[in-house]
Formats: sequence, structure tokens, C-alpha cells
Amino acid sequence: MSSELVIAYYDASPDTTRQERWQALLTPLLGTFRMVGLLDAAAEQAQIALVWSPPTGRLAQLSALKLIISLGQGVDHLMREPDLPKSAHIVRLVDPNMSHALSQWVILNILDHYREGRLYRAYRAEKAFIQRPQIETADLPVAVYGMGAIGQVIASQLAGLGFDVHGWSRTKRDFGSQITAYHGSDGFRQLTQTCRCHVCILPLTPETEGLFSAEIFNSMPTGALFINGGRGKQVVEADLLAAIRSGQLGGAALDVFAVEPLPDSHPFWDEPNITIWPHVAAQTNPETAARQVASAITSVLAGKTPDNLVDLARGY
Ligand code: GLV
Repeated sequence: MSSELVIAYYDASPDTTRQERWQALLTPLLGTFRMVGLLDAAAEQAQIALVWSPPTGRLAQLSALKLIISLGQGVDHLMREPDLPKSAHIVRLVDPNMSHALSQWVILNILDHYREGRLYRAYRAEKAFIQRPQIETADLPVAVYGMGAIGQVIASQLAGLGFDVHGWSRTKRDFGSQITAYHGSDGFRQLTQTCRCHVCILPLTPETEGLFSAEIFNSMPTGALFINGGRGKQVVEADLLAAIRSGQLGGAALDVFAVEPLPDSHPFWDEPNITIWPHVAAQTNPETAARQVASAITSVLAGKTPDNLVDLARGY
């Protein structure tokens, strides 16, 4: 039997440019290997799968798999798999470059909202030089739900901008002196009631699915801003729409949706107070993530446990 390293690749796109990019970047780090499409017959020899949103059931057919690497920070796209090979470790990308990108996306949306960017752009289109009273943001209470690698960067950047930042995690944690830590369902309710700006960066798990519902939106201070860079299914979209239409929420900025691409007929498109981004807040960057991918592969081939392991029971 040959011990040739075979990596099965899938990114849900018909374009092979990204696959070629990964191959080129991994070659100097790994030496010789063969990269094949996940759906090709040759994938059945693969020890490694590098994938985003693979067709359900395909990974289960790859009996030689030792490692499945998510091509993103989220792994919910793998969790719908009924039979992931038990012998395979699963890792997700934890790339500081993506945390940086996502934190900038959050900051952009928060500042645009409070500095009334949309209104001033509309005035500009009319050549109207109108000044509105400035909305005070010093010490504005912001909640960041999900304090993993990305959430902590967002929280500290927002604290640096003078916001009063509160971080929520599932279990008790400490995030240093600049960020007040909350946890569990009581902590969650406290934050929804007191913060004026809410940033969701949570992973999608059975506990977070449908978490942001009418009850939660109604518990927020009137006019609150809701930002979702987590997953669309964490939000009951009809409830968010109702909260925006009634003015209970002052605005929402969304990068993720229950169904992507967001269908043409979706009512979110018609709401000027919902800013829509097509899942671009933090795109996987092979240039910065290749080293982590190579190191996970090298560890597993050496019989070691790779970093950033996904806990299947926890769901992320
Ligand atoms: C993007 O949404 C990711 O999970 O990396």
C-alpha cells in the first residue's frame, strides 16, 4: 500500500481557483501530496479532508480519513453529517486574520449606525448639507455574545473605542478588566435587557438555534442595534423583522441568514433599517490559514492531537 498523502478538497463552489491556491500554499509546507476533489473516486484514499459544506454523507464514505479540516471558523456545516468517521479528528480554522476582519466588520456597522451613515449618504445624494445632533456613544453598553477567539478580539477592540463592553459565554470565564463577563441563561437575560447594542458571534448549536426570538428582542431597550456575524439560524427572522418594523429595534446588520444566498423574495431586502451583507464579514484567507492547516495535518500524521479540535458533543 502506498503511503502517499491524499487530501480531499471541497468548498461548494464550481470554481477551482481556491483549490489550486490551497494546493500551491500547502506544497512548500507539506512536501509532496495529492489534492483531489471530495467527490472524485480517488478521495476514498484520502487521509485528510479540507472542506466547506460537503454534500451530506460523502465524508462518511471515506474510511481512510484521519482529519477533517473545516475551511471556516464555523463547523455547523459538518454537524448535519449523520456519520462522520469516528477515527477522524475535526478541526476548525482559528485564524487571527479572520478575527481581525470580523472585528472590523462589527465596528464598521456599529459606527455607521450611531454616526447615521445611511442618513448622511441619503442627504449627500440630495446635496443637502444638514447637521443632526450627534448621538453619544461614549460608554454605550454593548454585549458580545460568544467570547471565543473572535468574540474576544471584537470585545477588546470595542472597549478600545470607548464602548462599555460586556462579554457573554456559555460557562463562567474571565476576560480581563476591560470587559465585564456574563454567562449562562441569567447572564444572557441581564445583557439583553441592559445593553443598547447586541453583537452575536455565537456558533450554531442546538442551544443557540432560534435564540434571538421576539421575547429576546422585546426585552432589549427600545431602539437597540442587533448585529449578527454568527449564523442565520440563531435568529427567528420573522421576529427580527417584526421588531425592526415596530421600531423596537433601531437597526440590524446581518452577514448571515437562515437561507443563503438570501432569496430575492425575502422581506429583509425591503427594510432600510436592516443592513445586508452577503456572508463576507470574514472570508477564509488561504494565505494566512495555510500554516495552521499544514500544522494540523503534520500533527495528525505524526499521531499527535491537532490544535483547535472540535468537540462534537458541544457542537463547536
Ligand atoms: C464563516 O462564516 C466561517 O465560519 O468561517
